Amino acid sequence: MKNFQFVNPTKIIFGQEQIEELAGQIPSGSRVLVLYGGGSVQKSGLLDRVKEKLRAYTVGTFGGIEPNPTYETLMKAVEVIRSEQYNFLLAVGGGSVIDGTKFIAAAVPHLESDPWDIVKKQLAVQNALPFGVILTLPATGSEMNNGAVITRKEYKIKLPFMSPSVFPRFAILDPVYTYTLPPKQISNGVVDSFIHVMEQYLTYPVEGKLQDRFSEGLLLTLIEEGPKALAEPKNYAVRANLMWAATLALNGLIGSGVPQDWATHMIGHEITALYGLDHAQTLAIVLPSLLDVMKEEKQEKLLQYGERVWNLPHDMAADEKATAAIERTRSFFQAMGVKTRFAEYGLGSEVIEPILANLRANGMLKLGEKGLITPDVVRTILTNSL
Ligand code: NZQ
Ligand code: ZN
Repeated sequence: MKNFQFVNPTKIIFGQEQIEELAGQIPSGSRVLVLYGGGSVQKSGLLDRVKEKLRAYTVGTFGGIEPNPTYETLMKAVEVIRSEQYNFLLAVGGGSVIDGTKFIAAAVPHLESDPWDIVKKQLAVQNALPFGVILTLPATGSEMNNGAVITRKEYKIKLPFMSPSVFPRFAILDPVYTYTLPPKQISNGVVDSFIHVMEQYLTYPVEGKLQDRFSEGLLLTLIEEGPKALAEPKNYAVRANLMWAATLALNGLIGSGVPQDWATHMIGHEITALYGLDHAQTLAIVLPSLLDVMKEEKQEKLLQYGERVWNLPHDMAADEKATAAIERTRSFFQAMGVKTRFAEYGLGSEVIEPILANLRANGMLKLGEKGLITPDVVRTILTNSL
């Protein structure tokens, strides 16, 4: 196992009606700005409930944070906060609203240069406004991690940043809030969570026994519960298990002390930036093909994954088993309703060079756990996923 440090300061408040705990989490006297997306929380009535719970505070609202949140929209919130002196933020929504809130929290006190530098130059953020989360879409793990992915529309760029100062102070996870999700977002959430686990698990063995077993437990839970959430949208136990799995898939725990890949995500971000596909759709296209191209480098873990997660027989020939494990993975995404080929999204070979050009421009020349995924390897991966 590799050396590691692990800290996660986010308080999780999990369960039905836990919104009752909201007011107690925010310092009294705070000026709270509630941030949300395109309106699902208005439609569901959640925004009104939040306002009611915060009636003892000075509260403002900022809506319209779009999926794949943009610098352009987020900077409008930064201006509002600076001029109206809000000092606590509350993100109510999915990964996009939470990520957007993280950028805003870091950008408000950043006066020395354009806050885009936080993303572009990966500046160390020294301080950020405190914020909490009410999660409505289990997928990204953003509710309990310190990462965010921000898009700059005018440049067609989508880049991540991380900072210890953008861990949420608390996250309220009420599985009932996920009942209103459209099937497409349920599927996206399951696939995104699954691939978060794969990015931290499907590399090479370092005797991280517990990390492997945690990861396999998460994958099995997603495989078992994902289809049930589509079939029985109001099954509380199913939603609760998916919600907790999505959070644990990317809160730093399973990735501690083990190598991590993240090439699928970096390639996927470029696909979203250029062609607007949903985050999970891009991952479902890239991952199976990436595993296939990197089959030899990842063989030991692929075989373990095939046996422990997909119950492939121990005595199956190695190459056959690795191929079968990859095919099971692709079939699972398809069964969840997420397409796994560019052609199924109306895209063809014209996408390849622009994606490579973006990766090069962003300095992503040696991706993967061993830095072996060069632009030429990405070309093969993309060609095989047309
Ligand atoms: O905007 P509203 O109207 O709220 O609708 C949203 C949006 O259209 C809707 N939705 C959310 N909760 C709902 C709901 N609709 C009905 N009922 C509910 N309960 O779902 C749509 C998608 O929302 P979004 O927040 O964009 O989805 P997701 O949570 O998948 O977030 C995706 C973003 O997170 C980034 C992605 O790159 C992408 O930008 N990621 C962030 C990560 C992190 N911070 O650690 C890691 C991930 O790998 C990912 O990259
Ligand atoms: Zn993701």
